[in-house]
Amino acid sequence: MFGPKSHLTSRDSHLFMEDVDCFALAQKLGTPLYVTSESRLRENIRAYHRAFPGADKYFAVKANGNLSLLRIAAQEGMGADVFSAGELSVVRMAGIARDMILFNGNSKSSKDHELIMQAGVRMSVDSREELEHLSQTAQKSGLQGEILFRVNPDVSPKTHPKIATGLRSSKFGIPAEQVAATYQRAMELEGVKPVGLHCHIGSQILDTAPFAEAAGKMMDIAAAVTAAGGAIERIDLGGGLGIQYHPDSPAPTPADLAAAVLPIFKDRCRDLGISPKLILEPGRSIVADTTVMLASVNVVKRAHVSFVATDAGFNVLARPMLYDSYHHVVAANHSDEKAEETVTVVGPICETGDILAKDRKVPHLARGDVLAFLDAGAYGFSMASQYNGQPRPAEVLVSGSRAEITRRAEDASCLLTGQRILPRLMK
Ligand code: LLP
Repeated sequence: MFGPKSHLTSRDSHLFMEDVDCFALAQKLGTPLYVTSESRLRENIRAYHRAFPGADKYFAVKANGNLSLLRIAAQEGMGADVFSAGELSVVRMAGIARDMILFNGNSKSSKDHELIMQAGVRMSVDSREELEHLSQTAQKSGLQGEILFRVNPDVSPKTHPKIATGLRSSKFGIPAEQVAATYQRAMELEGVKPVGLHCHIGSQILDTAPFAEAAGKMMDIAAAVTAAGGAIERIDLGGGLGIQYHPDSPAPTPADLAAAVLPIFKDRCRDLGISPKLILEPGRSIVADTTVMLASVNVVKRAHVSFVATDAGFNVLARPMLYDSYHHVVAANHSDEKAEETVTVVGPICETGDILAKDRKVPHLARGDVLAFLDAGAYGFSMASQYNGQPRPAEVLVSGSRAEITRRAEDASCLLTGQRILPRLMK
């Protein structure tokens, strides 16, 4: 029923994560609720280590910024890809070493540049223009930074257009043909030390061919840089490996990805006589399938369409609304029952587009039942909002029969954080 998701089982028609009954957990802690399997997370990381021995793996923190999960990633030897000062402070708190962090971003301020150099972490420079700003800031402040260059390799990843990042028209990276000259320019500038190349072609990619194409283009650029006298110490091929959200659309494994890119990387490095460190930045494929989002049914309405309205909407899980994403839905307290009715699952938000799952076959449902949205660990909580005055939900980590809160639920007071009524308006 759950395909390769060994941490999920159905026992007496209740969904279990490891040895925890998801329905009972929802009753105890309330919903909406994000619930993550520790063993699954550790297994997913180990699968990358097995597939890419010797490579550094930087977890893409934007996928999931939960501190306890990041701590597990650190324990399992992962570094981090961060995209903001906020993400940097979270991963430092989780204990990820400076040498294992890459600060990315296409729009960094001088303050960001200073902070990155002060923190002593590497950064990925997104444009020739950024390089010049950075060097000026470095000289002014007497700081120095090691940099990689974000390459725009112009590769089509065959994914949702909003999450394709390496197309010619994407906002990210330096056009491939300009990278070698930009590298040379960096070698002349004060305060910056170019050490490598970086790309990321998109997310939820279900075919390994675009990764192989990007790896080939990156090695062409590495050749041009090397010919111009540049030293390539690091090559970061980004993240993007997809996962199986839909029962009918299987995804490649980290081992499949390795089979597609490692021969290209190794052969070309050998030909060039260089031995850079390979880096990967997986987010989704590490964390998506570790987590379910639990929501309670408030109303079952049989109108022109049969609607099941839950207490979680796109405020809690934005992906279906943003990318028309599919998340498999399981009734946590009817998990063995036959799906007999076709319904559309909606949330409590005041928008017609607040749809979590369209035209799904489910067992007969009633108020108080609990639905589990599978594969919610990546870009789930991290994209949750307080829209419509909805506090964000709690997060729980499951290990065996233990279920512990790693982030408590917000309450209405959190909606007021930082706000005040101006005294002059109180008269
Ligand atoms: N590295 C960089 C530079 C990235 O921009 C990203 C994701 C990753 C790594 C990790 O990619 P992953 O392995 O997770 O595919 N919110 C969207 C996904 C946005 C991805 C943004 N960048 C979603 O929910 O599908």
